[in-house]
Amino acid sequence: MSDIEQRPQLADIQNEEDIAQLVHTFYAKVKDDTLLGPVFEKAIAGNWGPHLDIMCNFWSTMLLYSGRYKGDTMSKHMSLPIDPRHFSQWLTLFLGTVDTLFQGEVADNAKARAGNIARIMQSMMGFSLNNNQPDPGLLRHNS
Ligand code: HEM
Repeated sequence: MSDIEQRPQLADIQNEEDIAQLVHTFYAKVKDDTLLGPVFEKAIAGNWGPHLDIMCNFWSTMLLYSGRYKGDTMSKHMSLPIDPRHFSQWLTLFLGTVDTLFQGEVADNAKARAGNIARIMQSMMGFSLNNNQPDPGLLRHNS
């Protein structure tokens, strides 16, 4: 028997159900996180339902091109009390969630998009960064 433990084959993100699983799993971790949880509790006053719906629409638009998200992602973050530590933790939890649940091209895209958007957000907030190619996901989705 081989000593190399094979990673179980996971499916890729394919439909709205998968998006909901990704979003709900990720925000359950965020909610319990000592750094990120309080930021959300203050901003959305414990009202997670609407935020989760918005986030499902956002990732559905990013990854499945459904056009369900209509909003301005950047402006929502500019006044939050967040710095690079928050982004780093947000990304660690997000990438870990994707890797635990899915595998494939769309899953890779989710991770890449999240990283790009986090970088641009930090840049717009005045934090320094290395790679600042705009991500198309940052454009307003209101057409
Ligand atoms: C430091 C990391 C982050 C924190 C603490 C954070 C926190 C928040 C909070 C508290 C809200 C709710 C704002 C409100 O309704 O008043 C929000 C909204 C949102 N966040 Fe983040 N966020 C972070 C990073 C990101 C990243 C990297 C993305 C994209 C990949 C993202 C995408 C969104 C979107 C799409 C919304 C909804 C905006 C809308 O209402 O249209 N966030 N975030």
